[in-house]
Amino acid sequence: MEVIISADPESASSRAAKHIARLVRTKPEAVLGLATGSTPLLLYKELIRMHRNEGLDFSRVRTFNLDEYLGLAPSHPASYHQFMWKNFFDHININPARTHIPNGLLSGEDVTKFCASYEEEIRLAGGMDLQILGIGSDGHIGFNEPGSSLASRTRIKTLTRRTRSDNARFFRSENDVPHHVITMGIGTIMEAKEVLLLAFGESKATAVAGAVEGPITASNPASILQMHPAAKFHLDESAASRLEKHDYYRWVFEQKPPWQADA
Ligand code: PGA
Repeated sequence: MEVIISADPESASSRAAKHIARLVRTKPEAVLGLATGSTPLLLYKELIRMHRNEGLDFSRVRTFNLDEYLGLAPSHPASYHQFMWKNFFDHININPARTHIPNGLLSGEDVTKFCASYEEEIRLAGGMDLQILGIGSDGHIGFNEPGSSLASRTRIKTLTRRTRSDNARFFRSENDVPHHVITMGIGTIMEAKEVLLLAFGESKATAVAGAVEGPITASNPASILQMHPAAKFHLDESAASRLEKHDYYRWVFEQKPPWQADA
């Protein structure tokens, strides 16, 4: 696990975007796992800029989103379908047929069937080359809330009160936040070849400290990333503020040999 502390969310997002752009240039058919929420917005903005100004080509890239609210149609303003098109896909040359977002309009057995087929599609695509993650203030990754099996696969989950309250800002009121979601599992995420987790702001500092320096525990799902061979945490100063070894991570980054220096 590598911890990269940047002065602010802009520079952290720009470092993460450079990393993704390099992957896409080296492997134009790369499979990207995508995240939603406030955290990746600057990252998507920078990738859009690179597409417009530097010709970054997404035409052969395939994407799989982490999660979607159950009960929201793709046209719902707070759905993650809307989020992805508005904040990213509409502004790049992605082939819509190569984008995948869980279907939020299923119920009963269809949810189980869909989750199995989502896993199968990821497998047929060759697995994720790189997974982008945010982190919940409770340590969740995707919508794998505390207590989720660390080996879980794509499935239905019930949101915690805290997550519903954290995400109420995207809805008219907290009551409108769905209780259920479809989310990739922790086992699914862990199979990505690389993971880039982004976290900004004081509200993430405790979850980040637990994930990076605490024990590996289902109580902080992001802590499983300590077991991932290629996970990077891109943090701003506030999100890194509760890390005991803060100075060491900075020093490691500064000491990187030039051939390794890219984030
Ligand atoms: P946020 O959500 O980026 O909106 O803070 C992150 C998450 O819940 O994973």
